[in-house]
Amino acid sequence: MKTIHIYLFGLGNVGSTFIKQVLESHHFFKVNKGINLKIVGIANSSRLLTDVDGINENWEKIFVSVSVDRDPNAFYEFAAINDEVRIAVDATASKELSLFYPELVQHGFHVVTANKIANTLSQTFYDDLRSLLKERELSFEYETNVGAGLPIVDTVRNLHESGEQLFVVNGVFSGSLGYIFNRFSQEDIPFSDIVLDALRNGYTEPDPREDLSGNDVARKLLVLAREAGLKLEFTDINIENLVTTELQVASLNQFMTNIKSLDKPLQLRKLQLKPDEVLRHLGRLDAVDKTLKVSLEVVKKESPAGQLRGSDGFFEIYSQSYAANPLVIKGAGAGREVTARGLLCDVIKISSTLKTRVYHL
Ligand SMILES: NC(=O)c1ccc[n+]([C@@H]2O[C@H](COP(=O)([O-])OP(=O)(O)OC[C@H]3O[C@@H](n4cnc5c(N)ncnc54)[C@H](OP(=O)(O)O)[C@@H]3O)[C@@H](O)[C@H]2O)c1
Repeated sequence: MKTIHIYLFGLGNVGSTFIKQVLESHHFFKVNKGINLKIVGIANSSRLLTDVDGINENWEKIFVSVSVDRDPNAFYEFAAINDEVRIAVDATASKELSLFYPELVQHGFHVVTANKIANTLSQTFYDDLRSLLKERELSFEYETNVGAGLPIVDTVRNLHESGEQLFVVNGVFSGSLGYIFNRFSQEDIPFSDIVLDALRNGYTEPDPREDLSGNDVARKLLVLAREAGLKLEFTDINIENLVTTELQVASLNQFMTNIKSLDKPLQLRKLQLKPDEVLRHLGRLDAVDKTLKVSLEVVKKESPAGQLRGSDGFFEIYSQSYAANPLVIKGAGAGREVTARGLLCDVIKISSTLKTRVYHL
């Protein structure tokens, strides 16, 4: 039996669902895979809790009563007490934590992340992290960076690593913006009401401007572009920002108070549509021209993107072998359940390929 120690950062929508899924599937992994998954550390931005026996269903109450102030070294000191395989799971949107990954790797942690930031910082940070992981023989998995639980990153990685030339990846990259624009096209309600509803349902980022600015889709394009071997920076991406200039620099509170100012410009674009057209938020990675573009486009209702429903993501991959008929991946592209399950898939992927080993720090 392999025992895997999980250290989870972020206890919000995705993190708390991840805990639920690990606890529910614990017996299944033990019996079917010989893997004993234990969540031995959990943290939010200010507090942390460790338990060498692994947390249980009462974790929320226990976290409130016995968690301690967060000290960056506390996890490392706790982890160093035993020699189990350790996986850090990042279910935050924190840049600060992303900058910590090299340190986590230095301390013998594999890393699984839903957070796109580490993969979209400078190319130098990206390359250095991979060199360090290689040197320490540790894994870094991030399938949920693009399309939540859908297998996009792995597909592009496998095509690239098998020598396939990638041409274009395009589609609806954001389940949140998919949800927002599907509803906006069908319903006669203000744009901002739909955004607030999407936030309440956990579809948008904690700050919805991350979605509306196009930055979130841009990060996903950059993750895929780098997976396909392109050396590009975030600043190379052509991004259409749907947030008004004033609100781009406002505090989150100010943005929420003035969110109605987004309504008029988008309502005008909606009024210009022909009866057989809808608005869709699209991303396009052109691996031949080395260009990445994020924009709100008018598409035909009967086109694949035009027919999407709910928060579905939709990806078309054109490559050497898929030149005429693209490889299409479609399905729920956002939501806490599918994202948490994607994180768990990555944890199992790492756990399955490992032998329990001793770390020499
Ligand atoms: N929701 C989705 O459908 C979806 C889909 C794909 C990917 N993702 C990604 O999943 C991540 C989490 O999303 P979410 O919807 O779960 O967000 P969320 O509900 O806002 O939760 C974020 C959590 O992160 C914690 N946190 C912030 N900074 C931290 C730090 N430095 N160290 C430890 N914890 C920290 C927060 O703690 P405090 O409360 O103390 O601030 C909170 O518990 C994001 O990167 C998002 O892009 C989400």
